[in-house]
Amino acid sequence: MFNNVYKGKKVFLTGHTGFKGSWLALWLTELGAEVFGYSLTPNTNPAMFKELKIEPKISKSIIGSILDEKTLKKSMLEFQPDIVFHLAAQPLVRLSYQEPILTYQTNVIGTLNVLDTAHCCTSVKAFVNVTTDKCYENKEINRGYKEDEPMGGYDMYSSSKGCVEVMSSSFRRSFLQDENSMAMATARAGNVIGGGDWAQDRLIPDCVRSINAGQKIEIRNPVAVRPWQHVLEPLSGYLLLGEKLLCEGKKYAEGFNFGPNEDSVLKVAEVAQKVTEFYGQGEVIVHKKDDLHEANLLMLNIEKAEKVLGWTPTYTANQAIEKTVNWYKHFYNKDTDMYNFTIDQIKEYEDSIKWDKILH
Ligand SMILES: NC(=O)c1ccc[n+]([C@@H]2O[C@H](COP(=O)([O-])OP(=O)(O)OC[C@H]3O[C@@H](n4cnc5c(N)ncnc54)[C@H](O)[C@@H]3O)[C@@H](O)[C@H]2O)c1
Repeated sequence: MFNNVYKGKKVFLTGHTGFKGSWLALWLTELGAEVFGYSLTPNTNPAMFKELKIEPKISKSIIGSILDEKTLKKSMLEFQPDIVFHLAAQPLVRLSYQEPILTYQTNVIGTLNVLDTAHCCTSVKAFVNVTTDKCYENKEINRGYKEDEPMGGYDMYSSSKGCVEVMSSSFRRSFLQDENSMAMATARAGNVIGGGDWAQDRLIPDCVRSINAGQKIEIRNPVAVRPWQHVLEPLSGYLLLGEKLLCEGKKYAEGFNFGPNEDSVLKVAEVAQKVTEFYGQGEVIVHKKDDLHEANLLMLNIEKAEKVLGWTPTYTANQAIEKTVNWYKHFYNKDTDMYNFTIDQIKEYEDSIKWDKILH
């Protein structure tokens, strides 16, 4: 996988205690990387990081803030990583209405701190900067956004990530032009699903919580359309991008979309319904919508990742939802070692990747 580039590599991973970061920490470890995680403590209960006992499985885990420049710098300089995957963020749209300052501090200033620290650390050759599909100015258009379309964002989360994109581009032009500086790319993924996510106000965790509490699943915006994808899809994109940055440098230091195929672009109600079907229980009802604005239509154009990186999505929406539901079913049935189950899902995904047929 990934031309074996991660074997023996030192990887600095921010956000390793979160949902995507936990999966990425495990995958990198499986690929033979030395992983140094840097994040706050998990902020959900349960949390995948704790449930799967990920801390002892990686090289080092530091509980620290990306806003604490001193500790961040000390940690990175001591570790001397080859590559940084930056996932730490305040990633919730609805929370950003209550915590706009925290959202901007974490996402914009926090990312600038991580970029600046990595720039000072001469061992760092590559930097994968994770933003989101919500960074685009959403015009509610019926096609996917391309990488060169304007940044924006109605809510504070989306606009903070739009700002991260603008700031990162400026950082690249201002400080990363010389040959020896790190190659930094941004990665924009869609709505990610997968086992181990317990965040508030996310569709699948909300469905799972309701089913397990024997309650009806209340959805706010049944017709909202999102690009749903299994967590391993964008992570495979980040890892492929990391490989290209490490091996071929600045040629790939740009923004890339990692979304699903067009047939995985589903309405919220369709996804919730499929969850109940795969679970074999649960009932979906529409809850009165509140006043908080959320986009109705959001899709990503993934032609660039396909043509330039040779990346392509692997799972259909049905497969992604089924694998996600299976994960939670086993977790709540307490009948399976969830660490082994998660590693098996990673291996299963690796086996089904079809990229070889494209560029490799
Ligand atoms: N989950 C999705 O659907 C989705 C979609 C597109 C993009 N993203 C992006 O992917 C990344 C990971 O998202 P996630 O869903 O795993 O989120 P998450 O909330 O599960 O994890 C966030 C991580 O960031 C860390 N963090 C937050 N503030 C921090 C700080 N000040 N200092 C250090 N660490 C801090 C947390 O401790 C946690 O480890 C984020 O950048 C998010 O914007 C997520």
